[in-house]
Amino acid sequence: MNTKILVTGGAGYIGSHTTVELQNAGYEVIIADNLSNSRIEVIDGIERITGIRPVFEQIDCSDEHMVREVLDKHRVKGIIHFAASKAVGESVQKPLMYYRNNIDSLLNFLEVMPVYGVKGLVFSSSCTVYGQPDVLPVTEQSPIRPATSPYGNTKQIDEEIIRDAIHAGHPYKSIILRYFNPIGAHPSAEIGELPIGIPQNLVPFLTQTAAGIRDKLAVFGNDYNTPDGSCIRDYINVVDLSRAHVVAMNRIINSQSEPIEYYNLGTGKGLSVLQLISLFEKATGVKVPYTIVGRREGDIEQIWADPSHANKVLGWKAVETIEDTLRSAWRWQQKLK
Ligand code: UD1
Repeated sequence: MNTKILVTGGAGYIGSHTTVELQNAGYEVIIADNLSNSRIEVIDGIERITGIRPVFEQIDCSDEHMVREVLDKHRVKGIIHFAASKAVGESVQKPLMYYRNNIDSLLNFLEVMPVYGVKGLVFSSSCTVYGQPDVLPVTEQSPIRPATSPYGNTKQIDEEIIRDAIHAGHPYKSIILRYFNPIGAHPSAEIGELPIGIPQNLVPFLTQTAAGIRDKLAVFGNDYNTPDGSCIRDYINVVDLSRAHVVAMNRIINSQSEPIEYYNLGTGKGLSVLQLISLFEKATGVKVPYTIVGRREGDIEQIWADPSHANKVLGWKAVETIEDTLRSAWRWQQKLK
């Protein structure tokens, strides 16, 4: 029998790509998702890619009773916890919803895991915990800065909750993955990012503009202290990112990991917004009309990862090129259209 893994938020963007990689690696995946920001058709896409339909449980992970039921029914060995609200702007408008969703669900799993003998939890965190670092690239030892949004704060608080539970001797391990900017889609274009409403993130807005759904991409600021004045981020292919979760889960299942480990998941290369637009145009041959507007509140100027810890300890490295990644995002957009 294959080892069972629970993927919360498995119908979402990163969760669906990770489910594909886990199934390809021989794990049996149970998805727990309330479909609040995803669609059930994603499960069909996963099945078309892998030939295996993951078990799907429509539950709200902030409901302790439902969490207990799912863990009792499936007896998973590990959990990858993606289920969370993730829009920075919305979190400023609805902070309590963010604290409720993002913290209650984690507490439920941490409390219930020992009852069902779950070995460990891989947690989706974000480079947002570093704020604007003084020194670039950022390592896992870079200082944690005060969060600039309730969303960012939930990631910091969740990291602290996991740390405190493990320090108190809870009988499971955790690997905290700090993502930089995940972009792109599965090369098959069967799954990808499904932004509901007007996209807030750069790449979905860019591909919708290239497809003519939006008139113009607004570039938020060209007066930053960077070579071309626009913000710099570390854009990482979503399939590369997903593979790191499989490696992290293997470490937990094979009892190779420390009680708690932290990894930056990025490419190690920073790209500006203007560079990304130009790379997209070159990779796809499609023009992206854009205009420079004022800075977006809360944006940090520049950040990119030092991924050498993940490269060395996990033996994982981002391998997809930015051109292939942008082409995959474009193929997915064309399919959505
Ligand atoms: C943000 C969050 C990150 C979160 C991620 C996913 C912060 C500091 N960052 O990343 O934690 O995980 O969203 O939701 O809280 N841009 C434009 N025009 C647009 C959209 C974006 O110019 O229409 C620019 C932004 O100014 C930024 C870059 O593109 O420089 C990337 O933006 P975005 O994709 O929204 O991601 P982050 O803000 O980096």
